[in-house]
Amino acid sequence: MNRFSEITERKGTRSVKWDLAEELYQDPDVLPMWVADMDFKAPEAVVQALTQRVEHGIFGYTLADEPLKTAIINWLDRRHDWNVKKDWITYSPGVIPSLHMAVQSLTGKNDAIMIQTPVYPPFSSVVNDHNRTLVENPLVLNDGIYSIDFTDFESKIRDYQVKLFILCNPHNPVGRVWNRKELKQINDICLKHGVKVISDEIHADLIYPGHTHIPLAGLSKEASNNTITCLSPTKTFNLAGLQASYLIIENEEVRGLVTDYFNKQGMFMLNTLGITAMEAAYLHGEEWLEQLIETLEINRNYVTKRLHEETETLQVIPAEGTYLLWIDCRKLNLSQPELISFMKKKAKVGLNEGASFGEEGAGFMRMNIAAPKKLIEEGVSRIIQAVNHI
Ligand SMILES: Cc1ncc(COP(=O)(O)O)c(C=O)c1O
Repeated sequence: MNRFSEITERKGTRSVKWDLAEELYQDPDVLPMWVADMDFKAPEAVVQALTQRVEHGIFGYTLADEPLKTAIINWLDRRHDWNVKKDWITYSPGVIPSLHMAVQSLTGKNDAIMIQTPVYPPFSSVVNDHNRTLVENPLVLNDGIYSIDFTDFESKIRDYQVKLFILCNPHNPVGRVWNRKELKQINDICLKHGVKVISDEIHADLIYPGHTHIPLAGLSKEASNNTITCLSPTKTFNLAGLQASYLIIENEEVRGLVTDYFNKQGMFMLNTLGITAMEAAYLHGEEWLEQLIETLEINRNYVTKRLHEETETLQVIPAEGTYLLWIDCRKLNLSQPELISFMKKKAKVGLNEGASFGEEGAGFMRMNIAAPKKLIEEGVSRIIQAVNHI
């Protein structure tokens, strides 16, 4: 038994994944494999640091001070070979708030903003919520591998006079970790047409062997000057409920615009426990993370093998990063409502429906594999059983 095989009861802890699932899937027996958090305890060092802080008993306004910045800088340098300066860091309660702030501060009403569908649903809602024009550059699926249609990317930038591009790297839900050539091409085209880039790299630390996360802003001085990077330890170390994230913005003018926007919403502080957890995770979480990645790789390979060998219809898109598997269910020949109902009622697993990531996601489902093997085995067996009795 290691720390990633232990099953911890999460029902009754106000867990979105477990407690909301009952309401959402209208069945207490549905196994939740949806929203992106993990059924693993955070690193022991994080729990210890939080316990110590809680025992202190006073939770007044708390400084996000120099040692926290140093911990972030060293993490990015060590894990991603990316050299960041202290002044470039600003904090945010989450990547979603950062997306909202960046969109509002860097674009005006009706300005065109591009995203690559299928993609994490808030990317489109953040554009629509602020009455910007949504431009989609759908990813292309060929032989089970997603890639970018750069001709469409550049022509839409030109035709719609796109002002801002929101990149998801690694990509949720298709699991691509964009390589240097792809990132360079994205950067070159965006620079050529004066398009700023928000690079959401929240999954940056969750990379499978054989792949390397490259921060877009780390490509060159020009890339760094044109990129707003959103990062957080919350996906990496399972701390989403603590709401602590940060942005890296080298460009002083852009940083000024974004931070001014945060300040004007009264959002200029992190919470005490978020600060404590972030620092402890970056200082002491590395060994835990290595073991997590090994566990996720085993889960990814297990789900893929079983679904491929024991069904004739389901195809798992090979994930290069993230703990989210994108499963092609189109050969089941079910309409979108039928597919959702099938997974919920017949298989009794709570997955994310593909169409919520954009219309290209119809016929797909997203599965969260960040759970102890026993739960993953149960979920996969339920799906196989249901598919083979359709
Ligand atoms: C790509 C991506 N960005 C942002 C988030 C959410 O970030 P936060 O919880 O910091 O708002 C998620 C969560 O799943 C995500 O997958």
